Amino acid sequence: MSKQFDVVVIGGGPGGYIAAIRAAQLGMNVACIDEWKNAKGGPAPGGTCTNVGCIPSKALLQSSEHFDHANHHFADHGISAKDVTIDIAKMLGRKDAVVKQNNDGILYLLKKNKVSFFHGRGSFVKAAEGGHEIKVAGAAEETLVGKQVIVATGSNARALAGVPFDEKNVLSNDGALRIEVVPKKLVLIGSGVIGLEMGSVWRRLGAEVTILEGLPTFLGAVDEQIAKEAKKAFDKQGLKIELGVKVGEIKNSAKGVSVAFTNAKGEAQAIEADKLIVSIGRVPNTIGLNAEGVGLQLDERGAIVVDADCRTNLPGVWAVGDVVRGPMLAHKAEEEGVAVAERIAGQHGHVNFNTIPWVIYTSPEIAWVGRTEQQLKADGVKYKAGTFPFLANGRARALGDTTGMVKFLADAASDEILGVHIVGPMASELIAEAVVAMEFRASSEDIARICHAHPSLSEATKEAALAVEKRTLNF
Ligand code: FAD
Ligand code: NAI
Repeated sequence: MSKQFDVVVIGGGPGGYIAAIRAAQLGMNVACIDEWKNAKGGPAPGGTCTNVGCIPSKALLQSSEHFDHANHHFADHGISAKDVTIDIAKMLGRKDAVVKQNNDGILYLLKKNKVSFFHGRGSFVKAAEGGHEIKVAGAAEETLVGKQVIVATGSNARALAGVPFDEKNVLSNDGALRIEVVPKKLVLIGSGVIGLEMGSVWRRLGAEVTILEGLPTFLGAVDEQIAKEAKKAFDKQGLKIELGVKVGEIKNSAKGVSVAFTNAKGEAQAIEADKLIVSIGRVPNTIGLNAEGVGLQLDERGAIVVDADCRTNLPGVWAVGDVVRGPMLAHKAEEEGVAVAERIAGQHGHVNFNTIPWVIYTSPEIAWVGRTEQQLKADGVKYKAGTFPFLANGRARALGDTTGMVKFLADAASDEILGVHIVGPMASELIAEAVVAMEFRASSEDIARICHAHPSLSEATKEAALAVEKRTLNF
């Protein structure tokens, strides 16, 4: 006997569980299916983000930053901390506890919102009377029928051809978050977001880290001036980043991993490392969904094809998050999930792709929203730029962290803010003001005229806005 629902959500990551909650808030009878298992085999909703992504990586970034501060920065404050050690098992245990708090929190939220949760793999069976039949295979075998179905099955780490992840020596993001002994030598392939965040964690804990990047430019999607400033800081920290390399043979043995590559000068090189993290992007996940069986259209990358409103080619079937086009970010997945639930309810759900912020949680943090200077040039837009360094910000000096700057890009004629780019302390928090401003189509003058608390890092944002008209007050 099948169970009937207004909405069946397949996948309980940030795209799926948020869609389920929003649909339930709007009065619908909702099921959410997720297959992720915790160490005991029980449900662990939250997807990549909660289990092996955003949350555990930030927990390790925090622990390793404390360690780094104790070793290198406490002395500046007159605090002596000799022979500082770190218990990696305890650090990993804390990270796991943070993950569990989030898993439990999501289960609680689903229950609170009366979403029926099914632990197992969901797959399409066939179109059914008034909807779609979905099979759940897992702890319980169930057949559900959803009038509407939202697919939010996420993504998986991309492996290098011929080099499978064994999660012992050759690690994806999953293994990278579970290394039990600090490697002496760690190689990462790909200096994107994961490469920089995970490379930072293990460097701070004592590993000699080399990141091999295929492209000749560092962080090509980031504003060039900001990327350059960040690179300078990473170089100073000893994070070795080799750009323009071509990775060759990789040998994985009991002793470790040897990575052969050709550097930017065309010289053949090799590194013997204890561990290799491959962070070369992620692939949309539709494994076990029976997409082909029901004719759900995928593109050449394996992503589910959707229109601007997240509708797939099958009537009543929607898809959101990493499994569809667009940036692979938790908050983008959430926004799409909310918008789809609202569209199903007959409302006008909306996601503004121009104001999705990006954050890289390194030290310094890198955050941005809107277009970069190189994009504006390519688009032929006339713009004005204003920057303000944290070096001239009182709060940054008091914190002892004056690396970086805030940069504003505004339309030359209308002064509308077109992009805000930050490298420096708490960039992840500061960027929110820029997102709000851009969402309300503010001008740089609007920000320049707003009273910002003193002393605060946010004053650097105001000053960068003032810099657009060359009228900074503190620089
Ligand atoms: P996912 O989170 O991948 O969730 C999909 C869920 O669906 C999973 O639980 C999976 O088990 C389940 N599932 C799949 N198929 C089925 C099926 N057939 N039946 C049942 N269940 C199924 N983004 C940020 O915005 N900020 C960050 O700081 C950040 N840090 C990251 C750090 C790392 C190391 C990684 C790898 C990613 C990070 N991301 C970050 C990206 C973020 O994790 C993803 O963008 C986000 O998780 C996508 O959400 P989703 O709901 O689309 O998919
Ligand atoms: P990425 O796309 O950020 O970076 C991959 C890098 O690998 C690129 O610089 C690319 O040029 C390089 N590369 C690709 N193939 C290569 C090869 N064969 N040899 C050498 N270099 C190669 O992907 P990453 O870091 O794996 O992260 C995946 C996604 O997860 C991110 O794009 C992001 O969407 C999400 N994420 C978000 C975070 C955040 O918001 N703070 C943190 C971590 C991940």
